[in-house]
Amino acid sequence: MTKGMSGLGRMIVDGTDADRLKERIAAELIAVRGRSLAYTDAEDDLLVRQHSPLMSPLVWDLAHVGNYEELWVLREAGGITPLRPEIDDLYDAFRHPRRDRPSLPILGPAEARRYIEGVRGRVLDVLDGFDPNDPDPLRRGGFVFGLVIQHEHQHDETMLATLQLSGEPGLVRDAELPPGRPGGPEEVFVPAGPFLMGTSTLPWAYDNERPAHPVDLPAYWIDRFPVGNAAYAAFVEDGGYDDPRWWSEEGGRWLRESRARAPLFWIRDGGDWWRTRFGRTEPVLMDEPVQHVCWYEAEAYARWAGRRLPTEAEWEKACGWDPVAGRARAYPWGDDDPGPGRANLGHRAARPAPLGAYPAGASAYGAEQMVGDVWEWTASHFLPYPGFRSFPYREYSEVFFGSGHRVLRGGSWAADPAAVRTTFRNWDLPIRRQIFSGFRCARSASAEES
Ligand SMILES: [Fe+2]
Repeated sequence: MTKGMSGLGRMIVDGTDADRLKERIAAELIAVRGRSLAYTDAEDDLLVRQHSPLMSPLVWDLAHVGNYEELWVLREAGGITPLRPEIDDLYDAFRHPRRDRPSLPILGPAEARRYIEGVRGRVLDVLDGFDPNDPDPLRRGGFVFGLVIQHEHQHDETMLATLQLSGEPGLVRDAELPPGRPGGPEEVFVPAGPFLMGTSTLPWAYDNERPAHPVDLPAYWIDRFPVGNAAYAAFVEDGGYDDPRWWSEEGGRWLRESRARAPLFWIRDGGDWWRTRFGRTEPVLMDEPVQHVCWYEAEAYARWAGRRLPTEAEWEKACGWDPVAGRARAYPWGDDDPGPGRANLGHRAARPAPLGAYPAGASAYGAEQMVGDVWEWTASHFLPYPGFRSFPYREYSEVFFGSGHRVLRGGSWAADPAAVRTTFRNWDLPIRRQIFSGFRCARSASAEES
């Protein structure tokens, strides 16, 4: 087994490690289900209601993760006869947009819990007799288990976004995070040169992260930290939302239609900024990364600041490339597991950590908090890498390529370590801000600096 046995996805499988891999998969399955059940441990009314047309009722997400597990682990990988084929259509995200899901005859909370428990029991049976060295690409290295574990974590994050929109208090824990470290350089320099983007080796990486391919970049500067609330508030107070110079044509259209005046969930009270967070109203903590901004807001801020958003390639190089070793790291600091001292992941607290909280999580170039805290918008459209092959199904990534989505990187405080790595790509529409999204800025180096 590789050092640290981390991030699941990095596991190297051979005969002797198969049992440990299976134990680890079982533990991850239990852990992610614990989160899903905790976020839906509520009155039925909260679970069946639609809190925003952007989101599914929570009970839809709950049964959907079980249905996905049934489709992929039981039927595709396990060859097991369908348990509830009649509900497949209801939980097919491509057949029914989120706004329509409350009107579907979906399972109620008690039935949904029973269904996913029944599926899970059989999944553990499949795992028991499973050979991670099976050459079938769906089974090799436990890919299909990685698929459903990451999928469920992603829905757990979606459920947290739904809970935040619902304004319901009481479901979300909060814990101490490390203190921030104000001061120090604001930007880090990344010299010109090639790096290897994406991966061909991480066994649980999604199709859109593959294959690894060289990308040659000119020199650039990138922010050491994500943009903080204090800096973003300065943009707002400088009239940033009123000044057409900072907004692209599309961004300006979004601004007029949305009538946004500040990040989502911010409230102006006299001279102070407050926010609502999981049903509580509290002052905006100025040393935290800004979150709940859409791509257009990030773009406008960057222009106001005389900067730009990093491309996805710039983001990944600054995050994961080790120029001394000439290889990509699984995480900014190396290949060891994310722990509580390195990144704010896995919903330890229900918020981003202050800027500078994780010096031990710095990348080779000195960029910090690239993983955890907030998803970071990049300038890039969501597109396939050269040599892309869709796997295991077109609807995972391929149908989203070139459809106006922008790439987000790094994972938020709500993302789980099992679904975060240097190469991981998330994508969303540039108007979305109910997600836990922030950004950092970049700029091209001058000729003298390069
Ligand atoms: Fe899904």
